[in-house]
Amino acid sequence: MIIAVDGPTASGKGTIARGLARHFGLPHLDTGLLYRAVGRQVLLAGGNPDDPLDAVRATDFPDSLLVDPVLRHEGTGALASRVSVHKGVRAALLERQRAFAAQPGGAVLDGRDIGTVIVPDADVKLFVTASVGARARRRHAEMLSRGSDAPLEAIRTDLIARDARDRNRAEAPLVEAADAIVLDNSDLDAQQSLAEAIRIVEAAVADRPDRPA
Ligand code: DC
Repeated sequence: MIIAVDGPTASGKGTIARGLARHFGLPHLDTGLLYRAVGRQVLLAGGNPDDPLDAVRATDFPDSLLVDPVLRHEGTGALASRVSVHKGVRAALLERQRAFAAQPGGAVLDGRDIGTVIVPDADVKLFVTASVGARARRRHAEMLSRGSDAPLEAIRTDLIARDARDRNRAEAPLVEAADAIVLDNSDLDAQQSLAEAIRIVEAAVADRPDRPA
């Protein structure tokens, strides 16, 4: 079973994808981490994230970079959003994501274009979203819990900019797949969101025409 989880920044898609993977016993890939590693690698190499050649060169990042906590920082997320607009960057990361999805038994992948580009024939596609206000408040609380602070308004402004860049880019923009099920969790906590996601996946699997009798 392949489960694609897409959605905007701070929608809770990562938490949901991890929870689904645990519940269904599947491996999970946070594809945003790959773009974050490229963004970080550009910086380490002294390159320019907006330059397609510098960004493509950085797709050669060492795997050890994927566990660097700096990848989780807000600044790295913004860099990831910038390098992810380049066609060559997306092409360089494509096979790695498809190979992960093709594992026997399936997988859960979360990102922006999983259901539209990476695995268009995924068994279940979830599009996780929430209002900008709810996402900004969550990101703010998450940052405070990590000991860093930024004004709520600045976080909100950054989220709006990230959404615009991810949704308006020419290559694999963030968009709901036609057959995705939208989960708006503006009024749900993390536990309720996961419970709803599990319910959606179970219902989708039960509806599958090829389901064993
Ligand atoms: O999910 P995230 O916040 O870690 O993603 C960081 C950036 O990476 C996001 O703003 C856009 C880009 N990204 C992408 O273009 N495609 C993906 N499948 C995942 C992330």
